[in-house]
Amino acid sequence: MQIHNLSKTPSILNTFMSELRDETTQKDSMRFRRNIERIGEIMGYELSKSLQFEPHNIETPLGTSTTVLHKKDIVLCSILRAGVPLHNGLLNYFDAAENAFISAYRQHKHNPDSFEIIVEYLACPSLEGKTLILADPMLATGQSMVATFEALKPFGTPKEIHLVSVIGAEEGVNYVSNAFNKDVHLWIAAIDDKLNEKGYIIPGLGDAGDLAFGNK
Ligand code: URA
Repeated sequence: MQIHNLSKTPSILNTFMSELRDETTQKDSMRFRRNIERIGEIMGYELSKSLQFEPHNIETPLGTSTTVLHKKDIVLCSILRAGVPLHNGLLNYFDAAENAFISAYRQHKHNPDSFEIIVEYLACPSLEGKTLILADPMLATGQSMVATFEALKPFGTPKEIHLVSVIGAEEGVNYVSNAFNKDVHLWIAAIDDKLNEKGYIIPGLGDAGDLAFGNK
C-alpha cells in the first residue's frame, strides 16, 4: 500500500486538524463536521493528482481551450455514520461521483469483550473497472475498512482504490497495509501512536461519530 501522510508537509490542514482534536473547539459540532468536510476537500484535491486524466477541448465564447479532465468513473463509499462529513467533503470536489454507503460498527459498543465488525446496511453501484474511494475518518484497528472492502467485493473489481482517512493509529495503518495490494493508496492526515484498551486512537480526537452527530 502507498501511504500519503499529508501531515508530513505543514499546511492549512494542520489548522483544521488542531481544531478537530481540541476538546474546546470540538464542542461546536457544526464546526467539527465542517472541519472534517474541509479535510475531505483537501484529500480530494491531493488524491486527484494521481487520477487518470483525458484530453478535452473546451469551447469558450472566444475560442478553444485545451485541457485534461479526470475520468468521471469515481465511486465514493463511506462508512456510516462518522464517514458522512468526510464523504461530503470528497463529494464537493468529485461532484459527478456515484455514491455507496455502508454501516459498519464495532460490536464492542454493545459487548465490551468483542471487537467484531458488524455490517448491517450496504447500498453500492457496480464497482467494475471504476475508481473506488473508500472513506473512514478514524483508522483505529483498521478492521472496519477491511470488513467494508470485503463486503463490497460482490459489486465488482475496481481498477483503482484510494482509502481516505483523517487519523489512523500505527497499528490500524499496518493492518490495512497488510490487507490491501501494493498499488492501493492511503491518504491520511495524521498517524498517531497507539490504541487504548477500548480501541480508541491515542491521542486521536475521541469518538468522531458522537462529536459530529450528538451523544456528547
Ligand atoms: N473511532 C473513533 O471515532 N475514534 C477512535 O479513536 C477510534 C475509532
